[in-house]
Amino acid sequence: MKGIIFTEFLSLVEDQWDEDMVDDIIDACELPSGGAYTSVGTYNHTEIVNLVIALSEKSGVPVPQLLNIYGKHLFGRLAHHYPHFIDQSLSLLEFLEGVERYIHVEVKKLYPDAELPSFETKRLGPNKLEMIYRSSRHLDDVCHGLMEGSMEYFKAKGTITREPLEDGTKFIIDLTE
Ligand code: HEM
Repeated sequence: MKGIIFTEFLSLVEDQWDEDMVDDIIDACELPSGGAYTSVGTYNHTEIVNLVIALSEKSGVPVPQLLNIYGKHLFGRLAHHYPHFIDQSLSLLEFLEGVERYIHVEVKKLYPDAELPSFETKRLGPNKLEMIYRSSRHLDDVCHGLMEGSMEYFKAKGTITREPLEDGTKFIIDLTE
C-alpha cells in the first residue's frame, strides 16, 4: 500500500487528536516499517489495519467509523494532490464511473506497485449508479468514506447504501436531483 495512505492517516490522527496519539498508536503496533512512512514508499496494508485498531482502542471510536472518517478525509487529500483527475468530470456519477476506467489506471502508471481495488459500474437511472467494489483488502468502510467525500466535493445530495455480495460489496449511489 502506498505511503500516501499512511502519511494522510497519521496527519488525520494528529489533526483530530494530537501528536502523542500518533506516537502512542505507532508504539502500540509492531510495525515492520517502524512507523516511518514516505509518500512514495510501499508498505504492507496490514500496517494501516493495525494502526486503525490501535487508534480505536485508545480513542474508543469503533474501527468501522474510523475507517469511514479516514476515507472521507482521504478523498479531500487526493483531490488536493491530483486535481486534474477530478476536474475532468462534469458530475459526481461521471467521476465515480471514471475511477476504474481512468483514475486508477493513471495511478497504476504513476505507481506500478499500487494495489488497487476493482469497480464494476452500472447506471440504474440518470441519477442512480451501482458500483460493485472488489478488493482482497476489503476496505469497504474506506471506500464508503471516499464516496461520501466525493459526494461532498461535487456538492451532490443523495444516499449511498451498500449490500454485501459473495465476492465484493454493492454500493448504490442515489442522488436526489
Ligand atoms: C482523485 C481521485 C483518486 C485518486 C488519485 C486515487 C488514488 C488511489 C491510490 C494512490 C490508492 C492507493 C493504492 C495503494 O496503496 O497501493 C487508492 C486506493 C483506493 N482507492 Fe482510489 N483514488 C481516487 C479516488 C477513489 C474513489 C472516488 C474511490 C471510491 C469510489 C476510490 C477507492 C479506492 C479504495 C477503496 C482504495 C483502497 C485499496 C483497496 O480497497 O484495495 N478511489 N486510490
